[in-house]
Amino acid sequence: MTPALTDTTLLALLRDMPKAELHVHIEGTLEPELIFALAERNQIELPYADVEALRRAYAFTDLQSFLDIYYAGASVLLHEQDFYDMARAYLARAVRDRVVHAEIFFDPQTHTARGVPMASVINGLYRACRDAERDWGISCALILCFLRHLSEEDAFQTLAQAMPLRDRFIGVGLDSSELGHPPEKFARVFAHCRELGLHLVAHAGEEGPAAYIWSALDTLQVERIDHGVQAQHDAALMQRLARERIALTVCPLSNQKLQVFPDLSQHNLPRMLEAGLRVTVNSDDPAYFGGYINDNFEQLFAVTGMGPAQAYRLARNSLQASFVGESRKHAWREQLDDCFVRHGFQDAIDTSEGAPILP
Ligand code: ADE
Ligand code: ZN
Repeated sequence: MTPALTDTTLLALLRDMPKAELHVHIEGTLEPELIFALAERNQIELPYADVEALRRAYAFTDLQSFLDIYYAGASVLLHEQDFYDMARAYLARAVRDRVVHAEIFFDPQTHTARGVPMASVINGLYRACRDAERDWGISCALILCFLRHLSEEDAFQTLAQAMPLRDRFIGVGLDSSELGHPPEKFARVFAHCRELGLHLVAHAGEEGPAAYIWSALDTLQVERIDHGVQAQHDAALMQRLARERIALTVCPLSNQKLQVFPDLSQHNLPRMLEAGLRVTVNSDDPAYFGGYINDNFEQLFAVTGMGPAQAYRLARNSLQASFVGESRKHAWREQLDDCFVRHGFQDAIDTSEGAPILP
């Protein structure tokens, strides 16, 4: 049990600062209550008696033990409206955490393999994004993830199914079981996506070795690394990440729940930030890992002793690493600075981009 953050001025700052969420799986935002409501609506039998029994099953030992339950939970999603309702619930929650921009992962193969049409998935999510922008002013975009435990051929077919809706997603990613499924398995499909002008990201170095991060950068040519915490074992990689200002979308509570680190207090995020890496804080699968983005910030700051300077750096990194144009980033940076001034933390404002300049 992580102790609460007792510094109330820091707590208020973390909650109020504008931030971007760059690593959230929309299927990982399905709260048990919504899983049961959708199961009832779609007349699907769940192997759990009730919400509490499902929650009790959320005791994970590693990534695979989580993924098994996560894919089972997603089986209640059948119709476009289900995808809409899931994304609407997440976006309402994100607005409360002062997320000004969300780049949201979705796993179409989890659904198309069950006979759900690709259009139901993408149109439901896309409509929720547009409605949230209209209703709450949050900006959002979708990133289609390929499941790496499946074949590259399957990824190509998935891409082909999604292409009629190409204007509704901004990029592709790579997720699911990491060990044994290195990035280079997807070299051809990522090369094709690059030619199509899609943004490219990949999970690498969550449980897998630093070599997978090199491969994601050099073979897939991704623009951001999702997780990347295993980079700490490779000094040359750490230097490259800092020098090339490559963003890492780190997910502290996820890493704690999946036992990537024995305890949140031993998470390496503060050290990576100190080394000049473009680290961001994200929620991954908040319904399963015990917290949304602000919970990640609050619990991490409670146990690591980080303060306003690190809060500024992390929020600014998230805005800078997003896939939006410079004029919107500029407006959000101004909102960020205003927030720090309003909270009396103007000394923490640092526009240097944070990285020690390395050779
Ligand atoms: N899919 C959903 N969450 C994931 C994670 N943390 N790693 C890999 N694949 C995922
Ligand atoms: Zn993830």
